[in-house]
Amino acid sequence: MRAPSGANAQPWEYVLIERGPVRNAVRELCERADREFHERSPVWLRQFFADHEITPIKEFAATAPLLVAVFGRRDKPFWLQSVWLSIANFITALEFEGLHSLTYTPSVGKEFNKLLGVDETWSCQAVLPVGHGLPDEQLKPRPRLSPAAKVHVVDGEGRLAPFNAQLPFEA
Ligand SMILES: Cc1cc2nc3c(=O)[nH]c(=O)nc-3n(C[C@H](O)[C@H](O)[C@H](O)COP(=O)(O)O)c2cc1C
Repeated sequence: MRAPSGANAQPWEYVLIERGPVRNAVRELCERADREFHERSPVWLRQFFADHEITPIKEFAATAPLLVAVFGRRDKPFWLQSVWLSIANFITALEFEGLHSLTYTPSVGKEFNKLLGVDETWSCQAVLPVGHGLPDEQLKPRPRLSPAAKVHVVDGEGRLAPFNAQLPFEA
């Protein structure tokens, strides 16, 4: 979870929620938040959810071996950017360890903080189930656009130039 942070504030707090009755309450709050989110989503997003079989049912909140809630300290500078850098590093580290996770961003509120004993001024940014994949699981990674499709280059004269995979300092 280490990451660079604005003013070295390290404005993140990770809550490891073990399995037990508390998880049912977590699941209930997540599912309520998701039902509301789905209801107010635009049509295109509802279609994406339907196409990808994403529903407000969050069984993993109760059953995942470990559940990690990540909170951000809203009173710190650049807190949002810093917390998400930290989450990115965390999920990459899990992947290196051969663990599976899902970046899940429920719009939960104060009740959620209260349940986990977290100060209500902190904002829950993600809830990540962590565990091992099923032994015969076939992962189906979604397509990724190439760097050439996502990088624009401005040359020294200020003109748009084609992307060259070799950076100048690698030459
Ligand atoms: C910032 C962020 C928020 C996400 N929020 C949710 C979420 O609320 N619910 C969910 O089921 N998946 C969520 N996901 C997971 C994505 O929908 C997707 O399954 C995941 O990123 C892997 O697929 P991809 O290769 O298309 O990115 C989120 C992912 C990211 C990066």
